[in-house]
Amino acid sequence: MAPRRKRSGRAVKSSTRPKRKRSLKPKKDAPTAIALLKSDHREVERMFAQFEKATGTARKRTIVDNICEALTVHMTIEEQIFYPQARNALKRAGEDLLDEAEVEHEGIKWRIDLLKKMKSEDDLFDAEVTVLQEYVRHHVKEEERYLFPRLRLSKFDNTSVGEKLAAKKEAMTGKPVKAAPSLFERGIDALVGPSPGTI
Ligand SMILES: [Fe+2]
Ligand SMILES: [Fe+2]
Repeated sequence: MAPRRKRSGRAVKSSTRPKRKRSLKPKKDAPTAIALLKSDHREVERMFAQFEKATGTARKRTIVDNICEALTVHMTIEEQIFYPQARNALKRAGEDLLDEAEVEHEGIKWRIDLLKKMKSEDDLFDAEVTVLQEYVRHHVKEEERYLFPRLRLSKFDNTSVGEKLAAKKEAMTGKPVKAAPSLFERGIDALVGPSPGTI
């Protein structure tokens, strides 16, 4: 009887198989995209206000670490989900605004990197935080005054983008994103005016 021949094909190692990209499940009771991003903006403003009142260097370091973390998560969800969807909805009408927004993000990231390397005892630490605050204030103003109103008048899907942003933010922070206000709460808002985090 002829000897059995070895098979020439080798099994593909599991580590060399192309990894399937895990897509996040949209969060169904999420706030709208614009409400979520505005709420993030207010949160970072509150942190900068805390820094202005803080005295000890350890406390300042903690607040700045929180600011850097919050800004990093916010810019990531904007760059990966919100800006591409906004570009898609606004087409040429949003090109300049979104290009500027991305360049401004680069400036903010550069300042964050610098602050992470500094010690809160350094002479220029407080000044660096103030300059970062000014960068962020300018960027937030541009988004809220020009970008968001344009999106509200476009075919931008504020609800489904909000669900994706919330899912990504929860995955990055491990903390739940506050659910969208109920119909009852929105009814109250209509009577007394919305809170800063809502639209
Ligand atoms: Fe933003
Ligand atoms: Fe932004």
